[in-house]
Amino acid sequence: MLVEVLILGAVALVVWLLFFKEDENPLDKLPGPPRKPIIGNSWELFQSPPDKLLDVLVDYTKKYGDRYVFKVMNLRVLHISGPSDVEAVLAHSKNIKKSAPYQFLKDWLGNGLLLSTGAHWHRRRKILTPTFHFNILKNFATIIEEKTQDMVKMLKDKKGEDVSLMPMISDFTLFTICETAMGTKLDRDQSSATVDYKNSVLNIGMQMLSRITRIWMHNDVIYKNSPQGKEFAKTLSVARSFADDVIMDRKAQRAQNQGVEETESSDGIGTKRRLAMLDLLLEAEEKGQIDMEGIRDEVNTFMFEGHDTTAIALTFGLMLLADHEDVQDRIYEEVENILNGADHVTMSDLADMKYLEAVIKEILRLYPSVPFIGRDIDEDFKMGDLLVKAGTTVDVHIYELHHREDLYPEAEKFKPERFLGNEMKHPYAYVPFSAGPRNCIGQRFAMQEMKTTLSEICRNFKIVPKVKGARPRLMADLVLRPVDPIYVKFIPR
Ligand code: HEM
Repeated sequence: MLVEVLILGAVALVVWLLFFKEDENPLDKLPGPPRKPIIGNSWELFQSPPDKLLDVLVDYTKKYGDRYVFKVMNLRVLHISGPSDVEAVLAHSKNIKKSAPYQFLKDWLGNGLLLSTGAHWHRRRKILTPTFHFNILKNFATIIEEKTQDMVKMLKDKKGEDVSLMPMISDFTLFTICETAMGTKLDRDQSSATVDYKNSVLNIGMQMLSRITRIWMHNDVIYKNSPQGKEFAKTLSVARSFADDVIMDRKAQRAQNQGVEETESSDGIGTKRRLAMLDLLLEAEEKGQIDMEGIRDEVNTFMFEGHDTTAIALTFGLMLLADHEDVQDRIYEEVENILNGADHVTMSDLADMKYLEAVIKEILRLYPSVPFIGRDIDEDFKMGDLLVKAGTTVDVHIYELHHREDLYPEAEKFKPERFLGNEMKHPYAYVPFSAGPRNCIGQRFAMQEMKTTLSEICRNFKIVPKVKGARPRLMADLVLRPVDPIYVKFIPR
């Protein structure tokens, strides 16, 4: 009997030493919700309904300040929302590895640009960076304008009735990313496929959130064999097959055209090749630089990042504009002055729209489409006076950073003039597109799309709220979302 007790004791000691023994760690001196032995704060995580996680985290920031620690078993998650700390994390060339919950998306986005790390990520970023060069964006201008005109026409047909923003806008952004970056035209007669795709993206977000809050589901084997994991696999197959169709469509077109489209360059001298992002990837495949699986990963990544983020920003943006007629009028005047009766908007017109740019910046300050980003720390580094050890996870709270009163007085108010000419209080006070080596590769595309759309809408309509001053409850899955639909009216000018 004594021998059995001794063996059991020895096994318990080894397990404790291996999994639960606490190292000396400066993070343990930081505030945070009280941690229980062994499980840390896992219980709090489990108790938070997935759609309330944003509220819980915002409350913790209010309670514990801009550096607090949340412990999941023996993993320390450092939450930050101060600009100098955000700079220390994002500007550091070594902090490029995404945190564990991103890996829950692996079966969808694979080793695409958002999830990958190390040398693989560097190689892919190098292949993909030219696809968002100014000259390529210039070629996208006509398509973006065409899609905007379609939307304006559809809104005119609505004759001032209430319009639910997110479904309409996300159709527009999905059609636009497919036609620009993927070179594939989606028609409205394919709308059931697009609706299925958009629903699957929403479900992926919710299913991922629910997995985050149940730590036993973090294990791949347990999750994949659970009913939730099987449901998730079904959702993913809808999203993936939509992306596959887009790739096949473009491949078929290329085979028909025997190569890439040739278009007249804007200076009229000779011809210049217009490469959609997908063409560039297919060319890289021909050169053996990427395989078909890699192309699928990137197409899935860019279709998701390229449509959902901008749709959310435009949805919140139109909601804010509806409540601020003075801002709409000022955009209208600026656009009319710049276009001076012209039918088409050029890249240089867009660059001149400084007030509209300030409006978009303020929209993304109040409602950053990506409210948090997470990093796994591979090497010890200093965050100001604090040593952050390898093995820590850092969550950067963009949402709370953007709502700080010391950086943005009257932070809850929509005041685009904050961004007119004033010096920022800190270079990392405003990071809707992240910053540093893993910043958003599509930010110029996003600004171009949002400027084109909002300028055209304000030129054609007065936007009126359904209920003045109403604000939806917010939740965050992969992106920030309104819990309830947002309605506005578009009254032709
Ligand atoms: C308002 C619009 C957008 C916002 C606010 C936004 C924001 C962000 C943020 C914060 C990140 C960093 C994510 C992280 O570190 O986890 C990111 C990364 C990324 N974004 Fe965007 N994004 C927007 C539009 C777009 C568009 C239009 C595209 C594609 C055309 C795009 C493609 C990507 C990709 C591929 C990455 C990963 C980049 C890398 O890690 O190298 N985004 N975006």
